[in-house]
Amino acid sequence: MSDHILLRDEEGVRHITLNRPDKRNALTAAMYATMADALTEAANGGQVRAVLFSGAGGFFTGGNDIGDFLANPPQGPDAPVFRFLMALATSPLALVAAVEGQAVGIGTTMLFHCDLTYAAPNARLHVPFVDLGLVPEAASSLLMPRTMGHATAARMLMLGEPLEAEEAKQAGILSGIVPVEALAATATAKARALAAKPAEALRQTKALMKPNPQEVLAVMAKEAEIFSRSLRSPEAIAAFQAFMGRSKK
Ligand code: COA
Repeated sequence: MSDHILLRDEEGVRHITLNRPDKRNALTAAMYATMADALTEAANGGQVRAVLFSGAGGFFTGGNDIGDFLANPPQGPDAPVFRFLMALATSPLALVAAVEGQAVGIGTTMLFHCDLTYAAPNARLHVPFVDLGLVPEAASSLLMPRTMGHATAARMLMLGEPLEAEEAKQAGILSGIVPVEALAATATAKARALAAKPAEALRQTKALMKPNPQEVLAVMAKEAEIFSRSLRSPEAIAAFQAFMGRSKK
């Protein structure tokens, strides 16, 4: 269990808080493992009806820990990151995210598996996979063009352009933009509202809204295979080393 993930259950909502602010909540294998277990256990437990993801310290997440990409690259479906993505993509629970500041890489792609995402005006969604010598993950190569159209998804996934909150809302990624000081309370209220709904009807409604889960899982598996290979490519290793070795201005 990672100390960098805070877990708390309240009023039917499991709060999963990324809590590694000195590293912009960058996600390590241990953090993914804790989140995967927290999601699986919540889905099997019965008390929890909704999950709320947020980040501590004014950021959502800087994405996968780049040092981990170099030292401990995920390989195979049992790798914590892939276990987390599988638990996320197949969760029958209502999933809510509160996004403040940077949401890089998986910080953005995981939002396509959330049912509601509320963001502060300073939210910035960025998927620089190609610039890192990588490919999309979390079925984002399917879900992003489907949500926002190919033209905007190509700007994000191919050019690596970030979307600020307003544009992300227009692109259909966000359920709402709320002032930063109201973000936690708003997202919590929405998650609690979902948790208080008739449980079976909510669960069935979510399943009906995702009519072809096998398609998503198949794309995710294909991406994971190419992603794992890309992690070992010279262009990816050079990009990771450049980030790790960069000097601060
Ligand atoms: N992996 C490892 N460390 C990371 C990280 C990541 N993904 N994101 C941030 N950090 C660390 C930095 O190395 C730095 O650590 P240090 O203080 O020990 O040097 C610390 O977090 C603060 O980062 P910094 O870049 O100074 O903060 P910032 O507010 O100026 O910028 C980001 C924040 C997220 C825009 C920037 O850190 C960034 O681009 N991170 C990498 C994003 C990325 O490519 N993720 C992988 C996606 S697949």
